[in-house]
Amino acid sequence: MAQRRIKVLAVLGTRPEAIKLAPVIAGLRAHPRFRVCVCATAQHRQMLDQALEAFAISPDIDLDLMRSGQEPLDVVVAVLRALRPVLQAEKPRAVIVQGDTTTAFAAALAAFHQRVPVAHVEAGLRTPDRYFPFPEETNRRLLTVLADLHFAPTAGARRNLLACGVAAGAIWVTGNTVIDALLLVRRRLRAPAARRRWLDHFRRAWDLDLDENGPPVILVTGHRRESFGPPLRRVCLALRDIARHDRRLRIVYPLHLNPSVHRPVRSLLGGEENIRLIEPLAYEPFVFLMDRARLVLTDSGGIQEEAPVLGKPVLVMRRETERPEGLAAGQAELVGTERRAIARRVMELLRDPTGYRRMARPSSPYGDGRAAGRIVAVLASRLEGE
Ligand code: UD1
Ligand code: UDP
Repeated sequence: MAQRRIKVLAVLGTRPEAIKLAPVIAGLRAHPRFRVCVCATAQHRQMLDQALEAFAISPDIDLDLMRSGQEPLDVVVAVLRALRPVLQAEKPRAVIVQGDTTTAFAAALAAFHQRVPVAHVEAGLRTPDRYFPFPEETNRRLLTVLADLHFAPTAGARRNLLACGVAAGAIWVTGNTVIDALLLVRRRLRAPAARRRWLDHFRRAWDLDLDENGPPVILVTGHRRESFGPPLRRVCLALRDIARHDRRLRIVYPLHLNPSVHRPVRSLLGGEENIRLIEPLAYEPFVFLMDRARLVLTDSGGIQEEAPVLGKPVLVMRRETERPEGLAAGQAELVGTERRAIARRVMELLRDPTGYRRMARPSSPYGDGRAAGRIVAVLASRLEGE
């Protein structure tokens, strides 16, 4: 008689969760022992759909919870209410969550209340301040308490989990699944047709020449809640200083759809001739753009992990990072959110070929691209026969 498959529920809500869980979902789908049900909370709507499309994933269940202007706590309440009936109907053997978003935390809490084991992908990241980043740092700490299986991306993340009292036998160092996703998309981009397609696209849509001989490009992203208000305004003024200092540069800023991000950025930078404020990009063109950039200015977590693989120096516009490996490897630097400090460091790097080359040596401190396979293997051995 055929064995019953192990049913797991993968819950995701935002762009980075989609990108980072896509390789795990693909691995589970390809495994004969698993049946995976993908549940989107849709904490993000357009940005989630765009990210899922790159991996041809359509959710089995879509809770469609995004409302404009909602606070993280509204999302917690909505996810808790909406997931209870899903868990009761689906009866999964485990719930898989990723990272530190409200969706991940609330889904883990909902699973705990139904006594369903929680597998946490990208476990063990920490800063010393529970309010920074807000609310992600506290989400991570709570997730560690709620999770049963902890998939740590790095040895440092494992140490953080051990320091919290997690048993060594419940932690696996796997690498970060974002590297799996990145390498997959980079392979797709090697096809000459893909390269031509995106070169044309950027030229037509934003008058942007991404050819190797085109103008130097600085890629910018920023969306953290702690930066809303004065820090984000200071960042914008720094970008304006850089753009005006060297008109050959092209600063490209795909804007997060949160109105607290795109409204002030558009109003401060909208008229600058060499700054392109563009909509969020699908994953493939985003990787293409990152690969063409001279350097990256960001407060994003995922981009800190990806840029070193592509050999792009990353200046992190935050005062702390839970991703110290890129700093230790010399490929990332914390530049904070002060106008002068950001502008000074960017200009220095662009003028200093030796310093630039030191930061631009490709390496991958966050994984080898085989994280999802390790996670699936652990899930198979742990959930089999339970
Ligand atoms: C969330 C995560 C953050 C992650 C980020 C990735 C939490 C607490 N934070 O933050 O860790 O880095 O996602 O981008 O979970 N919006 C749209 N359309 C979209 C997406 C967002 O309009 O497709 C707008 C909505 O007004 C929404 C707002 O952005 O209310 C904020 O979205 P939310 O998911 O609450 O927070 P993020 O800042 O995106
Ligand atoms: N990304 C994307 N399109 C964009 C900006 C980012 O596909 O316009 C990808 C990026 O490559 C990374 C992920 O989205 O894999 C990071 O998401 P975000 O910065 O929103 O969240 P964080 O990583 O900070 O949680």
